[in-house]
Amino acid sequence: MSSLKTDPFDITTSVPLITGGGSGIGFGLLEQFLRLGCTKVLITGRREHILKQAAAKYPNKVHYLVSDAGSASDREALLRWVTENHPDCNALINNAGIQRRVPLVEETTEWTADRAAEIEINLSGPIHLCSLFIPFLLKAPQKQAMIANVSSGLAFTPFVGGPTYAATKAGLHSYTMALRWTLEDTGKLPTKSNLGGGHDFGEECEDVCKTVVEGVANSMLEVGYGMADKWRLVGDRDAVEANMHGVGEWVHVPKWS
Ligand SMILES: NC(=O)c1ccc[n+]([C@@H]2O[C@H](COP(=O)([O-])OP(=O)(O)OC[C@H]3O[C@@H](n4cnc5c(N)ncnc54)[C@H](OP(=O)(O)O)[C@@H]3O)[C@@H](O)[C@H]2O)c1
Repeated sequence: MSSLKTDPFDITTSVPLITGGGSGIGFGLLEQFLRLGCTKVLITGRREHILKQAAAKYPNKVHYLVSDAGSASDREALLRWVTENHPDCNALINNAGIQRRVPLVEETTEWTADRAAEIEINLSGPIHLCSLFIPFLLKAPQKQAMIANVSSGLAFTPFVGGPTYAATKAGLHSYTMALRWTLEDTGKLPTKSNLGGGHDFGEECEDVCKTVVEGVANSMLEVGYGMADKWRLVGDRDAVEANMHGVGEWVHVPKWS
């Protein structure tokens, strides 16, 4: 847990918009918001049947829009949908993300669509959505509003098994810190970042999401979990290097020879 603190965030009156909220961590966050008394959650994703399933589990509480965080026109349409249909939305949670586990030695020489998409979905998308939603969130009817960007422990330790993924998360963390500084005097928008755990590290999704949403409710400006929470606090370059080697050996990442 971070020592960075802000005002407690009132979950009961909040109306969060969670990108990629139909499954995985996004859906876990949705359930934790509802558990803590929130009555309305907005979610997006690319597959309608997943969103439909999530909404059916919580009738009248969960509303969805099929929307690709990797498409600029979808991001603009998302702001229009929220403004027109859900003006009470007061939190943007940039959760949608993908991970290409392709070590550099196996990487193509071509700039393929999936290579570009990883950067667009994980980094450009959240940055654009922040720009789009800040003016809207500053006018939220509640006293508070929030932007939370889901990064990763791999923002703090380069991931040799998926170097571009880790780079997008490091970029998102850096951007989020600047965003937090920029918004800190508005009295409206404490910015949260850094949910973590790591794909194969065995953290239970529900435990991670519970820690994160409770952290948000309890004034935490940055919330980490498990290994991500340890890595987040490492400032020693040698230790970061050692962590990187450790993960590379653990998942047997090949090298050029
Ligand atoms: N799992 C971990 O250990 C871990 C650790 C650290 C950080 N994270 C981060 O946590 C976030 C969620 O990951 P997860 O583990 O829950 O992954 P996941 O199980 O693959 O779920 C991702 C969700 O995001 C949606 N999504 C993916 N691309 C999207 C796009 N372009 N536009 C809109 N929605 C999109 C997916 O739905 P559709 O495919 O239908 O769009 C899905 O609902 C990501 O940002 C990830 O980097 C995860």
